[in-house]
Amino acid sequence: MSDSVALAALRPVHEVPKNLAFADPGAAMAQLSRYAADSQRLYREREAALRQTEQAQVNSLTLLSRAAEYRDDETGAHMDRVGALSALLAKLTGHSAEEVRMIRLAAPMHDIGKIATPDSVLKKPGGYTIAERRIMNNHTRFGAEILGQSDIPLLRMAAAVALTHHECWDGSGYPRQLRGDEIPWCGRIVTMIDFFDALTMDRVYRPAVSDEMTRQMLQKERARKFDPEMLDVFVNQIDRFIQLRDDINAGVRDHAALLHPQAQRLAVEMGL
Ligand SMILES: [Fe+2]
Ligand SMILES: [Fe+2]
Repeated sequence: MSDSVALAALRPVHEVPKNLAFADPGAAMAQLSRYAADSQRLYREREAALRQTEQAQVNSLTLLSRAAEYRDDETGAHMDRVGALSALLAKLTGHSAEEVRMIRLAAPMHDIGKIATPDSVLKKPGGYTIAERRIMNNHTRFGAEILGQSDIPLLRMAAAVALTHHECWDGSGYPRQLRGDEIPWCGRIVTMIDFFDALTMDRVYRPAVSDEMTRQMLQKERARKFDPEMLDVFVNQIDRFIQLRDDINAGVRDHAALLHPQAQRLAVEMGL
């Protein structure tokens, strides 16, 4: 490197070369602040456009999830509860406000793939044959396929949840037998919340299980089905989850409204 090139590289960045200096520094400053204002406006417009695209896609996929869910649960309340309770668990396990917002919207879509499951399997009381079990288990892959078409981070999370919400901490789940941290955190959260919520609902093949029995069943699956640290947080604060679930069921809290992507302020007010 020649001496003049080396010296130029050492020159402080604020030192403007003489041949580039503006004749009128006031005009130069005004020009610079116009550039800054323009780029801030463009950034805000781009963010608003992205949010609108996110909202439109989330709305339509949430509706599709409801169509799948209504076949199994006539109230569709399971979806709302899974969103709200997953958000609470994400918050209690130290996730950021943005991650809490995302999982609140992504978790309700976990069973969207059941749209492709025939009624003869979905509504069958009693056990499945091997072939029926395979059809049933495929709702995870279908869901990931439907949701994975988008590049929007929230829908990428929803696709990960759909694919992994039946994986188990010990590797005994499906569809890919992932284990431990191989399962994304959002999938581990929804696995536990889905299990908790499904047990406390009346199903065609069994009545609802009591909260105390559910707690014992959850604990039995520590480090088997569930992430042990996550389970400890959940069980230690299970009363908060039961309260939130009961509030949703009683209609005290309009959690369906929380599924609107712009409901962040409402969510904060509700402590989610
Ligand atoms: Fe599922
Ligand atoms: Fe579910």
